[in-house]
Amino acid sequence: MTGTTRVLVTGKNGQLSKSLKVVSDAAADLEFCFFARNTLDVTKAQSCSSMIDRLRPNFVLNLAAYTNVDDAERFPDNAHHVNGVGAGNLAQISAVYDIPIIHISTDYVFDGEKRSPYVETDRTNPVNAYGMSKLAGENSVSRLNPKHIVLRTAWLYSPFGSNFVSWLLSAAANGRQLRIVADQVGNPTSALDLAKSLADLVRQLEDVDWASHSGIYHLAAPEPMTRFQWAKKVIAVSGKLYGPTCQVCAAASSEFATPAVRPLRTVLSMDKYQNAFGLKFPPIEKSISDVLQALPRPRRDVH
Ligand SMILES: NC(=O)c1ccc[n+]([C@@H]2O[C@H](COP(=O)([O-])OP(=O)(O)OC[C@H]3O[C@@H](n4cnc5c(N)ncnc54)[C@H](OP(=O)(O)O)[C@@H]3O)[C@@H](O)[C@H]2O)c1
Repeated sequence: MTGTTRVLVTGKNGQLSKSLKVVSDAAADLEFCFFARNTLDVTKAQSCSSMIDRLRPNFVLNLAAYTNVDDAERFPDNAHHVNGVGAGNLAQISAVYDIPIIHISTDYVFDGEKRSPYVETDRTNPVNAYGMSKLAGENSVSRLNPKHIVLRTAWLYSPFGSNFVSWLLSAAANGRQLRIVADQVGNPTSALDLAKSLADLVRQLEDVDWASHSGIYHLAAPEPMTRFQWAKKVIAVSGKLYGPTCQVCAAASSEFATPAVRPLRTVLSMDKYQNAFGLKFPPIEKSISDVLQALPRPRRDVH
């Protein structure tokens, strides 16, 4: 492939898209074209078709999703519509144009019962409606476009939107003592780091043999920890940067009633991705520091 590589990106206003925008501003060889829901609604086949036809990108990157896990439990059809049907629309239409698709999925396709890290061939068994809808998306993308990369990532945080880290900092700024679950284990992943990996991946896919590379991969930061350990690291880094600090106490998931059950242990093995494309994530303290320095300063709530 010669010249600039053009990538159509859905879900413009999400945290991963906004992180990719930061990365893409420094990548002259890649042209990322971002579309928000009001210009490209993935649930509408006609909307997907006309944008792909107009742009004729080299890749489609699907970052659009219904990501509120508790709302998905209350409105499973809505989640399925975006995460299952929407992903299928993009895969089917990109295949018509022979355009490869990169699709983002989640560790929540697993039930969290395995004691060792999950590999890509492990049995999926989602325990909530969000996980089921994302699994439907994986299946559609794999079935409908022979040139596909499905990336399961986990526990995203970024300077954008509301996520676990931004919530922690604003709670700390308000002087609250925090009780954080110590029985959920996963791979906290900075969306800024993931976005850099996505840009690297696009470059590598330009000359790839699709017959041997299409498939599902795990791509998340490789340091698994509990939510409690993650929160302690965030507050420690915040203190070093002269930001808000607070006391963090361990709690059990059973203490918090939520509409959706969370899988307890969804540690991902990144070996397959490492062997195919190489894995580049900084130590988590550096990732947290980068995100905190880009976050707007948390303010005290005014009552
Ligand atoms: N967040 C996590 O911890 C996590 C963990 C594992 C995997 N993932 C996956 O990572 C990907 C990126 O997640 P994220 O955290 O960046 O999500 P996010 O911040 O919630 O962003 C998702 C974006 O998708 C857009 N969207 C929703 N429905 C749409 C539709 N019908 N058509 C077009 N756009 C639509 C939303 O638009 P509006 O702004 O208009 O609502 C939103 O901007 C998703 O596939 C998610 O499942 C996330």
